[in-house]
Amino acid sequence: MANLHIIDHPLIQNKLTRLRDMNTKNHNFRLLLEELTALMVYEITRNYPLREVSITTPLEKTTGMILDTSVVLVPILRAGTGMLGGVLDLIPTAKVGHIGLYRDPDTLQPVEYYAKFPKTLGDAQVILVDPMLATGGSAIVGIDILKREGARKIQFLCLVAAPEGVAAFSDVHPDVPIYAAALDRELNDHGYILPGLGDAGDRIFGT
Ligand code: PRP
Ligand code: URA
Repeated sequence: MANLHIIDHPLIQNKLTRLRDMNTKNHNFRLLLEELTALMVYEITRNYPLREVSITTPLEKTTGMILDTSVVLVPILRAGTGMLGGVLDLIPTAKVGHIGLYRDPDTLQPVEYYAKFPKTLGDAQVILVDPMLATGGSAIVGIDILKREGARKIQFLCLVAAPEGVAAFSDVHPDVPIYAAALDRELNDHGYILPGLGDAGDRIFGT
C-alpha cells in the first residue's frame, strides 16, 4: 500500500470516532467532517512550494513566504462537497471543480453524470476529495477524469479507506498519493466499509 498515507493525529482520531458513531446527527456530522478535513489539509499541504515576497510591517520592510502554487479542489458529488468548507477555510483562494459520480447499487460501478473544472487545472496542485474509498471505483474514475482534463499534480484525500479500494486505486494510479484518516477492515457484500461510518452522502444530507 505504497501510496497510502494515514494521518492519525489524536485530534483526527477523536473527531473520526464521533463521526463514525451512529448517534451523531446530520448537523454535527457535517461540522465534524469539515473540521476533520481542515486538519488533514494542514498535513497534506506540508510540502507545497513557497516563494519569497517583500512586505512592509507597521515597523519596517521585511520578506515573507507565500504559497507558490494555485490549488484546485475537486469534490466528487455528492459526499465530497461535505469536505469543501474544510479545505476552503485553510486555502480560501483555491478554485473548485466538480465531478458527479454515483455508484450503481447493483454493479457498484461508478456512473459519471457531471464534470466541470477551472481553466488552471493543468498547472495547479489538484486535491480530489471524497470521504469514502470503498471498492475504489469512484476515486479511480475521478482521477481518470482529472488526468483526461490535463491535471498533472494530484492528491486524493478521503477519510475512511478500505484495503480493497486502496489496492485497486494503487494498481491503476500508482502515481497519486492517497491520504486517509483510517484504513478500515474490509467491505461488506454491498460494498460498504466495515466498520466505516455508513453512507456518507446520506449522513451529510439527511437523505
Ligand atoms: C459514495 C462515496 C464515494 C463512493 C465510494 O458515493 O461518497 O463516492 O460511494 O465507493 P467506491 O469506492 O466503491 O466507488 P455514492 O455513490 O454513494 O454517491 P453519493 O455521494 O451521491 O451518495
Ligand atoms: N460509500 C459510502 O458512503 N459508504 C461506504 O461505506 C461505502 C461507499
